[in-house]
Amino acid sequence: MQLGRPSRTAWAAAVHRAAHQVLDQRRIFVDPLALRILGRDADSVLREAEENPSRRRMRIFIAARTRFAEDALTAAVESGVRQLVVLGAGLDTYAYRSPFGERLRIFEVDHPATQAWKHDCLHDAAIPLPNSLIFAPVDFERQTLGEGLKAAGFDPAQQTFFTWLGVVPYLTEDAVWSTLAYIATLPNGAHVVFDYSDPPDTLSPSYHDRRAIQVETLGEAWVTYFEADKLRAELIARGFSEIEDLGPPQIAARYFPNRLGSLPDKGGHILRATTAQRLNEVEGSSFPES
Ligand SMILES: C[S@@+](CC[C@H](N)C(=O)[O-])C[C@H]1O[C@@H](n2cnc3c(N)ncnc32)[C@H](O)[C@@H]1O
Repeated sequence: MQLGRPSRTAWAAAVHRAAHQVLDQRRIFVDPLALRILGRDADSVLREAEENPSRRRMRIFIAARTRFAEDALTAAVESGVRQLVVLGAGLDTYAYRSPFGERLRIFEVDHPATQAWKHDCLHDAAIPLPNSLIFAPVDFERQTLGEGLKAAGFDPAQQTFFTWLGVVPYLTEDAVWSTLAYIATLPNGAHVVFDYSDPPDTLSPSYHDRRAIQVETLGEAWVTYFEADKLRAELIARGFSEIEDLGPPQIAARYFPNRLGSLPDKGGHILRATTAQRLNEVEGSSFPES
């Protein structure tokens, strides 16, 4: 990100979600606030998308990752999770349309500059802030997630769901693992959904280079990629399980099966993983061995 400036890719991702509502008839993901938070109307979003037809693939990916995360979150809340952390929230609108009201406490974590700008967007769009929402400004490259969440009143003893969409590629690998290590230490278990990309040498140069140049021009270069098998092994070694990793073919099969065949094997992935409650520690603290 550019020093002291809000994330421009956060705006771009929000435009993709708004365009999905207008151009794809909300087929994958429904967000009634997607246009409103941008202060844009359907016609202007439509015109911009028509002028840039090459953005369709990214738009569909962003709609799919959001749907995947929100479906997994719904299942987790139904099984008892009461705390959500939206990491690198950008202009994500989940907190303002959550069906769970005060049953789900939501922490929006983001770079301080992006978060300040989001406040202005919410104010200008007259979108009310729900009581369940707490803002936690954190720069992942300078501060640990644990410190930022603690300052915001996060309860580490509660089982928590983390969404982390569109952020991992922009962080150093150290910052990514430091955040995942924090999630893995939570004693009552956690769920995380994030997206990442296959390494550039496995991708079609025309697609990758165009996208990489676009984000670099916005001052937010992609720096971290993962190989799926190595990432899975590393996550397991750090205590994650129930890993579900959808690459381009699985995303297409689940969310737009009528386009199967027109997508490459490599590209963006969406991944969900869980850590178990650490029974020994929890039991150990309440019922010390005699
Ligand atoms: C592409 S946007 C994605 C925003 C949102 N999750 C979405 O899907 O629309 C990237 C987000 O990562 C955040 N980000 C990038 N670098 C960061 C850092 N060092 N610390 C905290 N947040 C960061 C930006 O502020 C921005 O909100």
